[in-house]
Amino acid sequence: MNPTLALEVPFLDLKVQYRALAPEITRAVADVLESAQLVGGPFVENFEQEFASYIGARYTIGVSSGTSALELALRVAGIGPGDEVLVPANTFFATAEAVSNVGARPVFTDVDPTSFHLDVSSAERMITSRTRAIIPVHLYGRAMDLRQVLEFAAAYRLQIIEDAAQAHGSARNGTKVGASGRLTCFSFYPGKNLGAYGDAGAVTTNDAEEARNLRLLRDHGSPAKYQHSVIGTNARLDGLQAAILSIKLCQLDQWNHLRREHAKLMASALADSPVTPPEVTTAGEHVFHLFVVRTPQRNALRNYLRANGIGTGIHYPVPLHLTEAYQQLGYPGHGAFPIAEQLADEILSLPMYAELTDEQIEYTIDAVLNFAG
Ligand SMILES: Cc1ncc(COP(=O)(O)O)c(C=O)c1O
Repeated sequence: MNPTLALEVPFLDLKVQYRALAPEITRAVADVLESAQLVGGPFVENFEQEFASYIGARYTIGVSSGTSALELALRVAGIGPGDEVLVPANTFFATAEAVSNVGARPVFTDVDPTSFHLDVSSAERMITSRTRAIIPVHLYGRAMDLRQVLEFAAAYRLQIIEDAAQAHGSARNGTKVGASGRLTCFSFYPGKNLGAYGDAGAVTTNDAEEARNLRLLRDHGSPAKYQHSVIGTNARLDGLQAAILSIKLCQLDQWNHLRREHAKLMASALADSPVTPPEVTTAGEHVFHLFVVRTPQRNALRNYLRANGIGTGIHYPVPLHLTEAYQQLGYPGHGAFPIAEQLADEILSLPMYAELTDEQIEYTIDAVLNFAG
């Protein structure tokens, strides 16, 4: 703690959450270690059932990360070399990376300036005879309105694979993201709304065949020990993470509720301020994994908040078509996806987690309101 500051507001504080759950977590970890069911096994199966029932999906297949969830889902959907997959330019790198890792080509689309979600009209301009799939991302925790995506995918016979890495528990019209029956990919990276204590992920689906194939692929294509019916990989979820996730899953609704309450307060207080706050939509649609504001003076605001002890993030500073890794795809550079590019310069993620105190929230709001630019 810097003694010259009135208060500090870390961008994320996983330690506070841990302290509240420490006794339960310690017991669960000891149970796993005592049982020696470390990879796969009853703790994983238990969590898979709990998560499926929480989401309202028939099947949950636990895997080693959100990235492997996307890779396996793409493989199960039959996407591979020669195929093109539509991906929003403003998302975490892994959404596109998974496409590349199955041998297909990510094709970027622009995004909507208000919802920050994939813009279907931009996707339509990128269609070719090789386009096979589209990955809508429920970015920042807001469940995307998929009606246009569904029409578009039906018109061009595209598979839809949903990236719900940031959207645990968000819902539209009472249906949770992941319950649609389509392959939906979750990450349990520690900072997520439902986070493990290491890497972990899951795919949900309502299709028994897809579930079976996902289970095969995550475990060396192996239906039984030393039998290998297909070439898979090692993308298994481990028992420790599963047992920890089972404990945290019981808290998820309450944590999401608190995030929403904090977001409502912050958004209304910042309505007439130097920043544009995110839309606070109907109950349940947004679980505010991130609270992302916009301002043309982003860098100055970020520095000002830092000087006042408030941590921030940028999600994401470089649109995917401008990353070094994807220069190989030959996009024209700046100007290809103007909205995503403008967002990258203007967005700022303020601290957002269930454990934020009233004092921290007020302090953050005041700091933004006092920012003169
Ligand atoms: C939108 C999005 N997709 C995919 C991923 C990849 O998840 P993981 O880090 O668990 O591999 C993440 C997580 O960081 C993400 O935010």
